[in-house]
Amino acid sequence: METAEFDTDNITSQKGRLAIVTGANTGLGFETALALAKKDLKVILACRNTAKAEKAQHHILRKLPNADLEIMQVDLSRLKSVRDFAKNFLSKYNHLDILINNAGIMVPPYAKTEDDFESQMGANYFGHFLLTGLLLNTIEKTPNSRIISVSSLAHKKGEINFDDLHFEKKYSPIGAYRQSKLACLMFAYELQRRLEKANFKTLSVAAHPGVSITDIGRNVSKWMYNMARPFMPLVTHTPDKGALPIVYAGIGANAHGGDYFGPQGFLEMFGKTGKADSTPLSQNKEIAKRLWDISEELTGIKYSF
Ligand SMILES: NC(=O)c1ccc[n+]([C@@H]2O[C@H](COP(=O)([O-])OP(=O)(O)OC[C@H]3O[C@@H](n4cnc5c(N)ncnc54)[C@H](OP(=O)(O)O)[C@@H]3O)[C@@H](O)[C@H]2O)c1
Repeated sequence: METAEFDTDNITSQKGRLAIVTGANTGLGFETALALAKKDLKVILACRNTAKAEKAQHHILRKLPNADLEIMQVDLSRLKSVRDFAKNFLSKYNHLDILINNAGIMVPPYAKTEDDFESQMGANYFGHFLLTGLLLNTIEKTPNSRIISVSSLAHKKGEINFDDLHFEKKYSPIGAYRQSKLACLMFAYELQRRLEKANFKTLSVAAHPGVSITDIGRNVSKWMYNMARPFMPLVTHTPDKGALPIVYAGIGANAHGGDYFGPQGFLEMFGKTGKADSTPLSQNKEIAKRLWDISEELTGIKYSF
């Protein structure tokens, strides 16, 4: 569905509203923060590296001198850091309009987080699961609020490997990335089902950017990168375009709970924003519930519904 229906240009000023964007210092998170600031939202740049966040803030302010930005430090791969971030945020604010769960890593060498999670599951999924749970009551109290989960085309080949969730038996870097992005999408759908059941008005919406060249490729081998480079311009779009489905999910007019947005061009890799395809597995309610229960247990958060 490629129409002006999902255009971000027509979105009017969102002055007075507050957003958090995780991983806002570079790539799609940076472009999302910039786009939200352009629409007059106050944006909290939730980043693990404060120096990088300051640089990003500076870049945005050069383009938008009146942008209302604040940096708050968080490392999504550490549950303690996520808890500290939430505490810090909640000590300052009693409302939150948009939470954009964007930060992520892709195909790193095998590593465990300090909480004993495989690193991609830790940063991409479990950290955001905890963050959302800790902020949910405040988000729910905010009218017209939304929680955005950033997934990927990679979810389509993903599986939730309950027998070896942390790849302790055999590590596949891409397998773990796919699992983490599938988990993010299943979370978005399951969260919407639970919000509805609890009669909460907050919307859970998912988005994927298609393909954009960003720092996400930092762990991709040089050999692979050089092989792919000649074809890149044909199958990618710039990060500002890649961010549009995320921005639309956050503040677009025609977004509903449980929607999933992405680009509409060839194989959903680039193009205008519209409704994206997701696999039957991503919509499987039993697996989503099982994953949710495990996530509550492993992160120590009990959602309020
Ligand atoms: N680019 C694509 O084609 C593509 C396609 C599908 C989905 N996505 C998804 O889009 C999201 C953004 O990716 P991107 O392409 O913009 O990648 P990127 O340029 O590498 O940006 C990722 C951001 O996440 C931050 N981050 C990583 N680990 C973190 C942690 N533990 N705590 C806090 N922040 C952390 C990074 O911070 P540092 O700079 O400090 O590392 C950076 O700000 C990811 O969820 C990714 O899976 C991207």
